[in-house]
Amino acid sequence: MGAARPGRGRTALSDPSEPDRALIGQIRSAYEGSAQEWAAGPAEVYRRLAAALIDAAPFPLDGTRVLDLGAGTGVASEILTEQDAAPVGVDLALAMLAHERARRPPGVVADAQALPFRNGVFDAIVAAFCLNHVPDVVGALVQCRRVTRVGGVVLASTFPSDDEHPAKEAVEAALKRFGYHRPGWYRALKDRLVASSGDAPALEAAAHAAGLTDVRVERLEVEARLDHPRTAVEWRLNMPHTVGFVAALAPEDRTALHEEATAALSGDLPSSVAMLVLRAQVAGSPTG
Ligand SMILES: C[S@@+](CC[C@H](N)C(=O)[O-])C[C@H]1O[C@@H](n2cnc3c(N)ncnc32)[C@H](O)[C@@H]1O
Repeated sequence: MGAARPGRGRTALSDPSEPDRALIGQIRSAYEGSAQEWAAGPAEVYRRLAAALIDAAPFPLDGTRVLDLGAGTGVASEILTEQDAAPVGVDLALAMLAHERARRPPGVVADAQALPFRNGVFDAIVAAFCLNHVPDVVGALVQCRRVTRVGGVVLASTFPSDDEHPAKEAVEAALKRFGYHRPGWYRALKDRLVASSGDAPALEAAAHAAGLTDVRVERLEVEARLDHPRTAVEWRLNMPHTVGFVAALAPEDRTALHEEATAALSGDLPSSVAMLVLRAQVAGSPTG
């Protein structure tokens, strides 16, 4: 595992603007600092979402080589390995890939907008909640298309921006009572990146613009056991945009925050979460 340079044969590499480069750097730092917490909290929810995304594959993935893009602490890779696929993880943050490294498949530190692989080397891409962090979604999808063989598939998930699970607002309201403000990078991500990647027609248009074919974007409701307040609280308080704030609280305030957030969620919470699934094929020659 290690940092890598974009591979030979890359085409249409997106060149981020200075503000986008800065935003990518801030997103990287946030994930570098929260791998353990991610694995202890959000990963439980994201594992179920990754399973639903992988289920959307149009052909069995056993025996295939799959790029787990934005692999994080490895929930999608784990499911792919159980299905006898051969995943390779890519992530912007070394700490996310390094988590439990010994039991993980190979991993490469890289940006989705500059994949360090040759043309057509993967049978499938699984990008679980990665595109919603990428300033240039079309550029990232062009890269996905380039590194996937003809006949291969690109699968990607995002959260629909018009349908947020109520735990998000309730836990954020509790956080604010303790003085929390969204970090700047997260505001930029929510206002711009999530707003566009979380819109089904925009995601579909981005896939077409990237030259993918048979493009479908579906909205799924995935059972994630979020009706358990503890699961929902651990999900929200261990996110990269909250974890630093929570860690800096005095121990008694941290306990009080957990109690307040849990109490705020003890009503009727939906157990499922809505997710957009992009599924697209690679046709023709993978030249970008
Ligand atoms: C929401 S987490 C999802 C992690 C994992 N796929 C899962 O479902 O648990 C997003 C991941 O994408 C990574 N990421 C963010 N921007 C990226 C980029 N431009 N290129 C590659 N990875 C990126 C983050 O470091 C983080 O690990």
